[in-house]
Amino acid sequence: TVAADLLVVANRLPVDRVVNDDGSTEWRASPGGLVSALAPVMRKNEGAWIGWPGDTGTEVEPFENDGIALVPVALSDQEYAEFYEGFSNDTLWPLYHDLVAKPSFRREWWDSYVTVNQRFADAAAANAAEGATVWVQDYQLQLVPQMLRELRPDLRIGFYLHIPFPPAELFSQLPWRRQVLEGLLGADLVGFQLSGAAQNFVRLVRQRVGHKTHRDTVYLPDGRVVRARAFPISIDTEGFEELARSEPVETRAAEIRRELGNPSTVFLGIDRLDYTKGIYARLRAFSELIADGELDVEDAVFVQVATPSRERVDQYRRLRDDIDRLVGRINGDLGRIGRPAISYLHSSFPREEMAALYRAADVMVVTPFRDGMNLVAKEYVACRFHEDGALVLSEFAGAADELRQAYLVNPYDINGMKATMMQAHRAEPKELSKRMRAMRKTVTENDVAHWASTFLDSLALDRDAHDKQT
Ligand code: G6P
Repeated sequence: TVAADLLVVANRLPVDRVVNDDGSTEWRASPGGLVSALAPVMRKNEGAWIGWPGDTGTEVEPFENDGIALVPVALSDQEYAEFYEGFSNDTLWPLYHDLVAKPSFRREWWDSYVTVNQRFADAAAANAAEGATVWVQDYQLQLVPQMLRELRPDLRIGFYLHIPFPPAELFSQLPWRRQVLEGLLGADLVGFQLSGAAQNFVRLVRQRVGHKTHRDTVYLPDGRVVRARAFPISIDTEGFEELARSEPVETRAAEIRRELGNPSTVFLGIDRLDYTKGIYARLRAFSELIADGELDVEDAVFVQVATPSRERVDQYRRLRDDIDRLVGRINGDLGRIGRPAISYLHSSFPREEMAALYRAADVMVVTPFRDGMNLVAKEYVACRFHEDGALVLSEFAGAADELRQAYLVNPYDINGMKATMMQAHRAEPKELSKRMRAMRKTVTENDVAHWASTFLDSLALDRDAHDKQT
């Protein structure tokens, strides 16, 4: 065990174990916004990170990677299917994202969720120093705060939800709603992306658990208080900008445009292949602009990167097939030799290649139906140090709260998206730089270090106040 003073507990470790064909193993950066946000924070804080190594292979001993002590928690094949694919990603994920897809409520998945949450709580309890701060992350581990408090009342416990927290009307469908709320109430501070989510939570606690609440505070019968507040997450802005300014990235960005046949406008989408991201509707909107003659394949191309995700879950498999077919049809109908309308890549790329793509893109299109924050939007802004380029952004992404100068769209409104994409495409450089400058200021002032320190300070501050009282 490591006896750390600061621990992060997250479903995934920041690196995934990949077993190669020849049987050798290697570790690769994990997908998703949670890891990309927290990894730089933990490198600075010398904390420990408890998480699953991303496969169901043999158990791995704790080890150090890139300045972070990693404590792996193993999942069996059955737990992978029931806890991870099932309850986390086929029950909670669609329920918390506005029912964009229909959630499945399966009792054996819930049992597995309880078992696995207990394992993470046990691992945290075993590796935390006396009085340590433990920061539990995201929807996969909502029972950990309460379980951990039972084991280690000396700890200061924070919880942060990276995805949206739904309104009471939706959340109340969950057969285990009370257990989830009580699990979260084990924390001293529960953080959300937006204040609306924090309000949803407090209201549900009052309605469903019956505790007294006032504004952002819940009063428990034993005298403990829990606070629920918004802490909008961000990125390592400086790191991204530095990368974007580097020579290899500049060279690669120019090469990407050449490889695309030097079009005058490059549209770009980068997402995990997830039904919440609105990829299908976005590509349809773009293809209609070409079919209508508003754009020409000779001078406009849409580059869509879709990172493989949760591939055995039915709704994800179906989405992949739908998009494969749509892209094939669009390129078949509208492309010319050497000029596909859509350049579609079903793979994940290292940060350098992402930065080069951001630099190569004139119009970044981020149109989720619902998204906790969306860090891709912020990464694009961080990389546009020339203060050019346009960001088309869904009003249903958390990022829209801060990036008010983006070209905001309703992703359900195809005609609206078409019109706004054209507006962004035709905008004068002066207009673009005005918007980009304002957004860059926001992302520079509110980077991920700021997010983490605001959360951790708030968690510590409440403890100091509590200690004085008792
Ligand atoms: C989102 C979630 C993370 C998750 C990531 C990748 O960002 O908030 O908790 O890790 O997606 O999804 P995956 O299922 O591959 O971990």
